[in-house]
Amino acid sequence: SEGSTPPQLKWSFSGPFGKFDEAQLQRGFKVYREVCSSCHSLNYVAFRNLAQPGGPGFSEAQVRALAAEYKVQDGPNEAGDMFERAGRPADHFPAPFPNENAAAAANGGKAPPDLSLMPKARTYERGFPWFIFDIFTQFAETGPDYVVAVLNGYHEAPAGFSVPAGGHYNTSFPGNVIAMPKPLSDGQVEYPKGPDGKSPVPETVDQYARDVTAFLMWTAEPHLDARKRIGFQVMLFLLVLSGLLYFTKKKIWARVE
Ligand code: HEM
Repeated sequence: SEGSTPPQLKWSFSGPFGKFDEAQLQRGFKVYREVCSSCHSLNYVAFRNLAQPGGPGFSEAQVRALAAEYKVQDGPNEAGDMFERAGRPADHFPAPFPNENAAAAANGGKAPPDLSLMPKARTYERGFPWFIFDIFTQFAETGPDYVVAVLNGYHEAPAGFSVPAGGHYNTSFPGNVIAMPKPLSDGQVEYPKGPDGKSPVPETVDQYARDVTAFLMWTAEPHLDARKRIGFQVMLFLLVLSGLLYFTKKKIWARVE
């Protein structure tokens, strides 16, 4: 069976003027780092990307300090040996497992997929007429909606539904049995506190799911902000150019009426 239809959420990055929310990306990165990274790689993302414009807005110094907290494989050196060293901004996030087989063996036979492109790699079908729009927006919001729904989708299996060993009942995953154990629980990740000593957003599964998905949307499309800004400028330019060409045409053809 198909998973149940994910609820449509509001995303800061949706629509022609959408932008990533820097604070949300920072929270989402914290969730990835503290929870998801123990199983899922982020192979296409380098530490330095975190300081790129249009992203979570870390400073270069923060990125250097962060990278140095990781151990990275390097080599071979002059002796022909591989060795470990502290990470640098140009390194990519080290994967939790050395290869797909080891990843599968550690997770009951199913390797946790790389998350770098996940919100753009998954979607669900909304049927007629929405699929027409969804093709043009490259499933820009159905993907993230689906990822949040999966993270929120863990429930007690209904009576009579037998969940196979190593599987977990999930209402949003197609087939309703997923190899990923429920990764998030309320209060699990501590968020930065506001001036009143409390986190400005709730520390709940649903909020963690939205934040980590926004972060993964950014890793999947790091130039979204610039793409939308330039796209709008191009449309504006074409509009002005059309006006100018129209009046030019009128002037040139004025005597041929
Ligand atoms: C699959 C996200 C934490 C193990 C997935 C999928 C997503 C995801 C989007 C793909 C679902 C699909 O194929 O449609 C996340 C996020 C996490 C997280 C955002 C952190 C909040 C974990 C953890 C583990 C894990 C901690 C290991 C204990 C797996 C496995 C699969 C999977 C084994 C494959 C499931 C299957 O195909 O049946 N995860 N995950 N994940 N994840 Fe996670």
